Amino acid sequence: MSEQAVRLDYAYCLTEALGKGQGLELAALKALQAQADKAHASLEQQRQAGSLGFWQLPAMGQEDLAAITGEADRLRGLADNLVVLGIGGSALGATAVDMALSGVFRQSLPCKNQAMRLFVADNSDPRMFCSLLSGLDPQRTVYNVVSKSGSTAETMSQFLVVLERLERALGAEEARRRILFTTDPEKGNLRLLANREAFPVLTVPPNVGGRYSVLSAVGLLPLACAGHDVKALLDGAAAMASRCLRPGLLENPAYLFAALAVAMQRAGRNILVMMPYVSDLLGLAQWFAQLWAESLGKALSLDGRRVNLGQTPVAAVGATDQHSQLQLYMEGPQDKLVCFLTLANYGADLEIPALYPEIAALAYLGGRSMSELIQAEALATAAALASQGRPSLSLRLPQLDAQVMGQLIFLLEAATVAAGAMLEVNPLDQPGVELSKELTYGLMGRPGFAEQKKRLEQMDQGARFVA
Ligand code: PA5
Repeated sequence: MSEQAVRLDYAYCLTEALGKGQGLELAALKALQAQADKAHASLEQQRQAGSLGFWQLPAMGQEDLAAITGEADRLRGLADNLVVLGIGGSALGATAVDMALSGVFRQSLPCKNQAMRLFVADNSDPRMFCSLLSGLDPQRTVYNVVSKSGSTAETMSQFLVVLERLERALGAEEARRRILFTTDPEKGNLRLLANREAFPVLTVPPNVGGRYSVLSAVGLLPLACAGHDVKALLDGAAAMASRCLRPGLLENPAYLFAALAVAMQRAGRNILVMMPYVSDLLGLAQWFAQLWAESLGKALSLDGRRVNLGQTPVAAVGATDQHSQLQLYMEGPQDKLVCFLTLANYGADLEIPALYPEIAALAYLGGRSMSELIQAEALATAAALASQGRPSLSLRLPQLDAQVMGQLIFLLEAATVAAGAMLEVNPLDQPGVELSKELTYGLMGRPGFAEQKKRLEQMDQGARFVA
């Protein structure tokens, strides 16, 4: 295996590390091959049927990639700031990769290599949106409206606000040069407007769902604008895609991740904590939370049985959350599986000065590096959890660059659909989010949703406040 490969360490899922009655015996681990076989057959069938569109993205043709990077170059010629107007799967992936590669403080620090500053307005919150719009120079800002459906209320409201402001400030033609759409090739309001009014537009393949779309134009356009190496991102994903085609449980990191998570869930571990020991990977943990929750939290199985399945994902950061969540993970209910993300090479380091040799509680740090400290903390936390019979996985990253991020993203996407196959639920739909959308439409007066408004009024018993 290449030294650049992301590796999955599962030692702390085994009984031999966790103690009697906890985790998996070696024989039980081997028996999970049957789960891998089930996933393998199902994913192969879905790939053949063309329903796993994300699997094809790493092998994107030169022409498609050039269309994306060409638009990114055009936008970079126009402005310094790119605001993505999108939500959920149309937003989280770009944030995850940009934060990983440019750092958690990127928006307040100067940009390198003439890259654009990227802002992702992943909400309809007017307080956030007003402060963003008023803080950016309109002459130096462009927008990417990302919506596969072209109808998401949060995104459409932002688009309408921005278009009106830009038209007023710069005129209709210039406004349209500064707003790029990313949407379905045929359907939806954004496609309609692009055809009618010549907005520039990039396409999301129809068989790529929102939360699996970061390696399409949805993520690649903003990431290219922000100066990231999108080809390396795709290359990393392609390398992981070929590992994720292997049938053997212990040769395929996606099958192993999925099989362990599913086995732990069946044993009552209903919470999956994604805990990178890298602050810049908080966005990745949040992206994963949406992927895992929306894909696997389902009322019905594929054959229509009521199952109400799902493992609640939690985003945490080490070592920060050792001082926040770890007490609960160590001593609270035995309902969690933790997935650590560790980094062999932080790409930056500081030697801790030996300033007070006479104070033992400070002296031991002197001469050691900050990377040694955080790596020790990650190892110690996993060992401490294991000592209490609490399982964890570790995804070991060699370093943090675009190639590694591509591997990581693809691995987690493949693991999610593999888990869907093992649990016999559909990881590509999200029927549970519809009702609240429809009730919102009712409240906002959208034609065709009067019934929903009435339903809400009937349910409304009035608020009850504590005195
Ligand atoms: O993963 C998903 O499918 C969702 O989170 C969508 O991405 C989100 O609802 C936004 O949808 P759209 O891109 O159609 O605006």
